[in-house]
Amino acid sequence: MDVLWCFLSKNHKPYTKNRYSFSVSGFQIFSAEEIEALRYAGQVLHECIDYVGKLVVPGITTRELDRAAEAFIRKHEGAEPAFMGYHGYPATLCTSVNEECVHGIPGDRVLKEGDIIAVDCGVKYKGLNTDACKSFPVGNISPEAHRLFDVTIAALDAGVAAVRKGARVGDISAAVQKTVEGAGFSVVSALTGHGLGKTLHQFPDVPNVGEAGTGPVLPLHTLIAIEPITCTGKDGIVDGKDLWTIKTRDGSLSAHFEHTVLVTEEGCEVIA
Ligand code: MF3
Ligand code: CO
Repeated sequence: MDVLWCFLSKNHKPYTKNRYSFSVSGFQIFSAEEIEALRYAGQVLHECIDYVGKLVVPGITTRELDRAAEAFIRKHEGAEPAFMGYHGYPATLCTSVNEECVHGIPGDRVLKEGDIIAVDCGVKYKGLNTDACKSFPVGNISPEAHRLFDVTIAALDAGVAAVRKGARVGDISAAVQKTVEGAGFSVVSALTGHGLGKTLHQFPDVPNVGEAGTGPVLPLHTLIAIEPITCTGKDGIVDGKDLWTIKTRDGSLSAHFEHTVLVTEEGCEVIA
């Protein structure tokens, strides 16, 4: 099945009670050997994002960050950038600055003191994809931006804590939504997490808003990316001119944190 599972789920509706059966079909399940490959990809990805984060200073361009990330990944035998060429995407990183929510294309933009930047990256190894993102401050940032980071990290952690065999996708969505809205910020609800593995985006959608006890039931050893994308203003998006970059409609600041997680019996393993 070669589908693009609505990672930009603009027409996405949150899961509601009884819309889905208990069927687990559609999920990709990984063997022990594949899990080893995923762990390796995830380790390279984790180190890559931390390495890029250390390069985030006023005066650097997003293209320089992208080149550094690509070189870092290719230094690891068998590892390659997962985003490059995906539906024509031209880079290793997505670098989304300030009011940009996701899929900012690296280029000539020079980062300046007070900006925030989401560094989103994927590593492919032995045909398997991992996907993760962290937002970073450029020099000193406003207290509000700091708080948005803290709340988005807390939302991601709450989503991850809801993952275990037999949990439903809506359990994750509800945990994320509650954390963000409880802190007075908004979820950018058109953008969702997703299953991944053989492809970067596959079944299921993992929305950042929804009801606990709804949605598909997670089977053992499937892989999902949880990625709350939040903003300080109102929920709503607009497309950038390049048709990749997505921004907040009201121009408010947006943050993005993402983990790839493997479902286990008692919970999950953070792969990246
Ligand atoms: N974490 C991003 C997402 O799931 C990765 C986008 S890769 C791109 O949408 F190639 F589509 F940009
Ligand atoms: Co993703």
